[in-house]
Amino acid sequence: MRILSGIQPSGRLHIGNYFGMMEPAIALQNEGEAFYFIADYHALTTVSDPEVLRQNVRDVAVDFLACGLDPEKAVFFRQSDVPEVTELSWILSTVTPVGLLERCHSYKDKVARNMEATHALFAYPVLMAADILIYDSHVVPVGDDQKQHLEVTRDIAQKMNNRYGDVFVMPKARIREEKAKVPGLDGQKMSKSYGNILEVFGAAKPSRKKIMSIVTNSTPVEAPKNPDGSIIVELYKLFASPDDVKKMEDDYRAGGVGYGEFKKRLAEAYAEFFASRRAKRDELLAAPDYIDEVLRKGAERAREVATVTMDRVRKAVGL
Ligand code: TRP
Repeated sequence: MRILSGIQPSGRLHIGNYFGMMEPAIALQNEGEAFYFIADYHALTTVSDPEVLRQNVRDVAVDFLACGLDPEKAVFFRQSDVPEVTELSWILSTVTPVGLLERCHSYKDKVARNMEATHALFAYPVLMAADILIYDSHVVPVGDDQKQHLEVTRDIAQKMNNRYGDVFVMPKARIREEKAKVPGLDGQKMSKSYGNILEVFGAAKPSRKKIMSIVTNSTPVEAPKNPDGSIIVELYKLFASPDDVKKMEDDYRAGGVGYGEFKKRLAEAYAEFFASRRAKRDELLAAPDYIDEVLRKGAERAREVATVTMDRVRKAVGL
């Protein structure tokens, strides 16, 4: 079984990335041959400063390894180290209806938020399909927000297979139901562009400050409170043990504990959850050559597979 996923190096990783994609991907590295990559071609749709892009790629590499990606088990590489994927993207675009891309929420959202409607932004799901299909992927662990892109990938694969015979493996999204939707600090979906994120490796003080400034209602300390739908409780569930979650919910209902205290508990659980990963990250930051070597080896293996697929595809389409 081939497992594949990608993550965009478009800024600091947040806990939405962590619980939506990284944690499930890391768990899956024991269940098949995992290919995980840093989607730097995709990041070009939003990052225009070359130095920033290079730094983001390194940050993501370090963060992912610190969180438990094991390069002995998973092939870990930079998307652009396998340029064949852009060739496949072109070929796939010849069967991709414009209407299919026009319906993509992610594209529509970005344009609605005043991002320039570039061709790359529009064609983003086609490159993503190429990422998935070039490695004959069976399973793709992604966050809930990528569901539609996986449907587009399957549509494109089907069209290619109908036209040219069985060229591609049909991939399946793996979206975990629980923890799939991580609320942002303001209750909207957590997203860098909404400015409501909690970073995986945010510095202690600012992260605590962000948590302490979560907006709550004005229920007085003594009064009972409703834990259902509370952002504090929802976030706490990601980090705390079921017993501690139950205690928080009971304390909400009983009254006598204020939101400030609940936020403190959340801040502590968050800090503790990432503490050991933070230590690992400090080690990795001190070993840049190791990171380069991991990505170089990963690219080599990824390219082997991509080259075989591309021979098959070129032949199938008549190139
Ligand atoms: N679009 C994905 C995201 O923003 C990243 C990505 C690019 C990806 N190519 C992929 C994810 C292929 C899974 C498979 O999260």
